[in-house]
Amino acid sequence: MSNLNNKKIILNEEDIPKRWYNIQADLPRPLEPAYNSRTGKIATKEDLCQIFPEAIVKQELSKERWIDIPEEIIYAYKIWRPSPLVRATNLEKFLDTPARIYFKNEGVSPSGSHKSNSAIAQAYYNMKEGTKRIATETGAGQWGSALAMACKMFGIECVVYMVKVSFQQKPYRKSLMQVYGANVYASPSMQTQAGRKILEKDPNCCGSLGVAISEAIEDVITHDKAKYALGSVLNHVAMHQTIIGLEAKKQMEIAGEYPDIVIACLGGGSNFSGIAFPFIMDKINGTHKNVRAIAVEPSACPKLSKGVYAYDYGDLSGFTPAFKMYTLGHTFMPSEIHAGGLRYHGASPLVSSIVKEKLAESVVVKQKDVFKAAVTFARCEGILPAPESAHAIKVAIDEALKAKEEGKSKAILFNLSGHGHFDLSAYEQYLEGKIQDCNYSEEDVQKALKDLPKVNI
Ligand SMILES: Cc1ncc(COP(=O)(O)O)c(C=O)c1O
Repeated sequence: MSNLNNKKIILNEEDIPKRWYNIQADLPRPLEPAYNSRTGKIATKEDLCQIFPEAIVKQELSKERWIDIPEEIIYAYKIWRPSPLVRATNLEKFLDTPARIYFKNEGVSPSGSHKSNSAIAQAYYNMKEGTKRIATETGAGQWGSALAMACKMFGIECVVYMVKVSFQQKPYRKSLMQVYGANVYASPSMQTQAGRKILEKDPNCCGSLGVAISEAIEDVITHDKAKYALGSVLNHVAMHQTIIGLEAKKQMEIAGEYPDIVIACLGGGSNFSGIAFPFIMDKINGTHKNVRAIAVEPSACPKLSKGVYAYDYGDLSGFTPAFKMYTLGHTFMPSEIHAGGLRYHGASPLVSSIVKEKLAESVVVKQKDVFKAAVTFARCEGILPAPESAHAIKVAIDEALKAKEEGKSKAILFNLSGHGHFDLSAYEQYLEGKIQDCNYSEEDVQKALKDLPKVNI
């Protein structure tokens, strides 16, 4: 049982995990292979190497349980890692709950979120293989900021296609990326054919992650020594993020705890994978069969909860291979919610497979409830969460209140994936009563599902 006097548990630099956990080694069924619609065949290592460095492709396809983290990456992580595990004692008191609520604070990274865990790794491997330019997309701006910083550290030019609605909502995210030396374009942009085509049809298109990915990949194909980096969805990104859960496990152990419930928001699935996979490993191997992992989705974009499990592209234009995942359809355009990082049509193939195997659950929450939870959390614990992370807070609060109702004393762990210092205009709107709930349209999803690729492998 945890000691109330310990507000947070901080590890030393030498406690930073030396290996990432690759859940591919432990899946009840192996992942279905990615599909290359241009060749009509399974996507090969060579296909993937056209846009990613070889070391990353190896990780993407690896079935080894543990992958060593190079010294240089661990050294770069030391800027902010290990991140604190904090007990939300004030929130517990406010809720008057017997539950013990812990959160892993990934908002302490210089870019403000967990995204730096993979950005550093991806920039490092690219540098090792001679990449000169990395193009990427960003939704909320967190991934773009993380990659911009990582690229500067490893001497690589960085180009970011930022979803237009976030570009307008968060001008200072753009400034941060520019401070780190990146070139930032509002997507859809005039820089690429994909962007120009969309703008021709709809000059006011607010963009989506799917559109921005198309632009970034086109940028890579049309530039020399250029590679692409993705901040979520893919297996290697999920694996890099497991440093969160591996640290959290050590910290919970110091607190004398093992979580009953692990919670994270889900956009493409990277922070959920990061905090949950090391615990799901215990669920699979039977040492902690009852641990629950909950992925929280916005009602505007509930792919795990309302999507279909099918092959689909990662981007709007179908440049990427098709992956087997829960999806609302790559042509689905989610509403302009403030949690821009959760506006993605598909869930990572690994998370999808884990949900399919009933090793994790998903829940859907509404925007107004999310902001209410975020403000409650900020008033209790002092930390302003990113609207994405606030989805996890909402469910942590719900579970703590359920524990109170049931008179059960549970340990709840959630991932605070990032801070919300660049999201103050959204908070301003909430405080002025201007935030609306945005539910997905079933009709739009049905329309988008008609565009799923036909896969025959
Ligand atoms: C702070 C924060 N949390 C969560 C997410 C969602 O992404 P993922 O599901 O990959 O963790 C994002 C995406 O931009 C983000 O910025």
